[in-house]
Amino acid sequence: MSDTANDYQGVATMDKISSLAKRRGFIFQSSEIYGGQSGAWDYGPLGIELKNRIMGFWWKEMTQLHDDIVGLDAAILMHSRVWEASGHVENFTDPLVDCKKCKSRFRADQIPEEKLSAKKCPDCGGELTDVRKFNLMFKSHIGAIEDEANIVYLRPETAQGIYVNYKNIIQSNRMKIPFGIAQVGKAFRNEIVTKNFIFRSREFEQMEMQYFVKPGTDEEWFNEWKKRRWAFYEKLGVKMDHLRWHQHGPDELAHYARDAYDIQYLFPMGWSELEGIHNRTDYDLSRHSQFSGKDLQYIDQEANERYLPFIVETSAGLTRSLLMILCDAYDEEKVADKGNDDDWRTVLRFHPAIAPITVAVLPLMKKDGLAELAEDIRNELKEDFATDYDQGGAIGRRYRRQDEAGTPFCVTIDYESKDNGSVTLRFRDSMEQVRVNRVELAERLRKEIKEYKRTKG
Ligand code: GAP
Repeated sequence: MSDTANDYQGVATMDKISSLAKRRGFIFQSSEIYGGQSGAWDYGPLGIELKNRIMGFWWKEMTQLHDDIVGLDAAILMHSRVWEASGHVENFTDPLVDCKKCKSRFRADQIPEEKLSAKKCPDCGGELTDVRKFNLMFKSHIGAIEDEANIVYLRPETAQGIYVNYKNIIQSNRMKIPFGIAQVGKAFRNEIVTKNFIFRSREFEQMEMQYFVKPGTDEEWFNEWKKRRWAFYEKLGVKMDHLRWHQHGPDELAHYARDAYDIQYLFPMGWSELEGIHNRTDYDLSRHSQFSGKDLQYIDQEANERYLPFIVETSAGLTRSLLMILCDAYDEEKVADKGNDDDWRTVLRFHPAIAPITVAVLPLMKKDGLAELAEDIRNELKEDFATDYDQGGAIGRRYRRQDEAGTPFCVTIDYESKDNGSVTLRFRDSMEQVRVNRVELAERLRKEIKEYKRTKG
C-alpha cells in the first residue's frame, strides 16, 4: 500500500486527525458504547456535511459538466449471479495467514517475504499457518431459508449496478457511445486488516463512473480520463505535490483490468491509493451477456455496427477522499508569542466549496441587540450558505473553534453594525479582517468562494 512513509513532511498524524474528527463531530467509531465495531464508522454533523459536499463536487463534475454522463442509484442487494459473472465469487480474495501463537491475522502480501517463507509471525515470531484464499464479500441470505439458492452478497463495488443497467439507460435515455454512467454509494468488503482510521474500512462509499466506448478507442479514452481525474483534484484545491500516479504491475492488476493506474496521495502513513482508473475492456459486459443469456451488444444504427463496448472506469473512494481532505487541510500555525497554548491554532484549510460550514455569524456581545441583529443576518445568509451561529465566549476563542472546524469565513456583528450596517468579515486562512456592508455580504462571499486559492499550509 504505502512504500515511502518518510516522504511525508506535514504536521498531521493519523492520531491527530482521528482525535480532531471525534472532538469536532466529523467521525465516530461505529457502536462505540459497545466497544466499537471495527472497520465501520459513523459520520457526525460536520462529517456528513463534508462528505455530502465532496460527493456533490464530484457529482457536479461528472454529470452537470459532462453532457455525455448520466447518473444512477442501483440497489445494494443484487442477484447473486451478478457476482459470479463479475468474477468476484471466484477471484475477489486476499491471501490470508494466521499466527498460531498470538492469533494475529495478516494479509500474506503485506508481510515481509523472508518472514512469510520462514512462516514466522512478524509480531511475535510464532508459527504462521499456510496461506489460504479469503473472499472479501459479505454473504447473507434473502428470505427465511438459509440455503445456497438464497445467497445474497453486500456489493463490494458499485460498478456492477451500472453494468446490469447499461441497456436500460441506453434505451430510456437514448445515450450514444461514447457515454458514461456515474454512481455514488456504499460498498462492503470484509477486509482482513483495517487500520489508519477510515482509510481501509469494511463499510465505505465509492464514487464510480463507467465510460462506455467503442473497442479500439479504449486506450485514447483511458488517457483522457486520467487527465480529467488529475484536473479534478487541482480544482478541488488539494496539494498537488501530494499526488502521484502508480501504474499496476502484472501481479497487481485486478481480474477484470487490462491496464490500471492509481492516483496515490501522500497520507501521513505514506503514499497510498486514493482512486483507480481502469481499462476493464469488454470483460464485464461479455461476462454478464454469458451469465444472463441477454444480448448486451450496442447497436450503432448510423454506422450499421454491433459490438460489446469497452469500459473505462474511474473509481474513487468517497470516505477515503474525505480522509484525504482532512489530512490535506490539517495545519497548525503559530499566531502569537505569549508562551502559552493560545499561541498556536489548529486550522482545517478546506476549499470553501466543500467546507462543512461556509460562514459563521458571531455577535461581539449578546446584549444591546447585537445577538438579534446577528441572528437576523444569519437567517438572511442561510438560504444560500451553510451557516453557524455562535455567541458563547471570547471572540478569539470563537474564531479558533471555527478555524478548527474549517469554516472559511466568520462574520462579526458589533456596535458599528448597528449604526451603519457594516460587519466584519474575517478570513480563516489569512486571519485578515475587512469591513463589508451587510447588503453586499452574500455577493462578496460568493466571489470569495469562486476565486479561492489556497495560499497557506
Ligand atoms: N470498481 C473498481 C474498484 O472497486 P478498487 O481499487 O477496489 O476498484 C476503488 O476500489 C476505490 O475504492 C479505491 O481507490 C479506494 O478509494 C476505495 N476503496 C476500496 N476499498 C476500500 C476500503 N476497504 N475502505 C475504503 N475505501 C476503499
